[in-house]
Amino acid sequence: MERPCSITPDIDILTVYFPLAGFGQLPINAFVIKGEQPVLVDTGAPLDGDAGDAVPRFMSALQQVIDPAELKWIWLTHADPDHVGSVHRILEEAPNARIVTTFLTVGRMSLYRPLPLERVYLLNPGQSLDIGDRTLTSVRPPSFDAADTAGLFDSKSRAFFSSDCFGAILERPARGADDIPSSDLEAGQLLWATIDAPWLHKVNESAFAASLNQVRKMEPEMILGSHLPPARRMTEQLLRSLAAAPTATPFVGPDQAALQLMMAQLTGDHAGERATA
Ligand SMILES: [Fe+2]
Ligand SMILES: [Fe+2]
Repeated sequence: MERPCSITPDIDILTVYFPLAGFGQLPINAFVIKGEQPVLVDTGAPLDGDAGDAVPRFMSALQQVIDPAELKWIWLTHADPDHVGSVHRILEEAPNARIVTTFLTVGRMSLYRPLPLERVYLLNPGQSLDIGDRTLTSVRPPSFDAADTAGLFDSKSRAFFSSDCFGAILERPARGADDIPSSDLEAGQLLWATIDAPWLHKVNESAFAASLNQVRKMEPEMILGSHLPPARRMTEQLLRSLAAAPTATPFVGPDQAALQLMMAQLTGDHAGERATA
């Protein structure tokens, strides 16, 4: 885990970088909104929630930002493992917190370990939740990898928490998206979009442009993606890059020959190369 840091006076980010061999590094972010009713947005990846340590790494990072017992809401953007890693541990340590999510996320979680229904608050895209000093509105982002995905717009910070949308695979960690050269950021976004949402190659381009326009209309002050360093006032740049995804080169993963080459490089011998001959 990276050291937690503040994005605004009341929003902190918890990040771990996940290496993708041969491609770069994928940030996995969770966020804490320290408002009147504190909110945790997503709960890290399983490896950081159950590393065999007395205090798993995600919990340790969270405790540096807030006493989990103060949390009132845990927003799960969807049930993919990199978003729900520590959710059950947090439910134990945050007895006053309820989970805001969709019916489909609850259903998917029941395939692993069910969420306690009495602690669930179902909110569909388009619906809002008043949490005292701000309103959180559920938003279906233009791009996603799971049917249950719902991001959120925070009325106070005007941050759009976009879940997997606007992610990027990076060469190296960065504190902010504006620290990344724009051509690298665009390439990283396109690589991520073609990996994460291959269906983008089949969309009607004008329909996709209309869904990108919904983000533009929200006029977010910043985009806080689950797989992107914080992006302040970069909405147009991020939208432009994502608009190119439907016509970008489709991603094809390494095949067996490439895997054996990688393994040979990792082990320092050439057994893999011989096996491909
Ligand atoms: Fe996902
Ligand atoms: Fe994700």
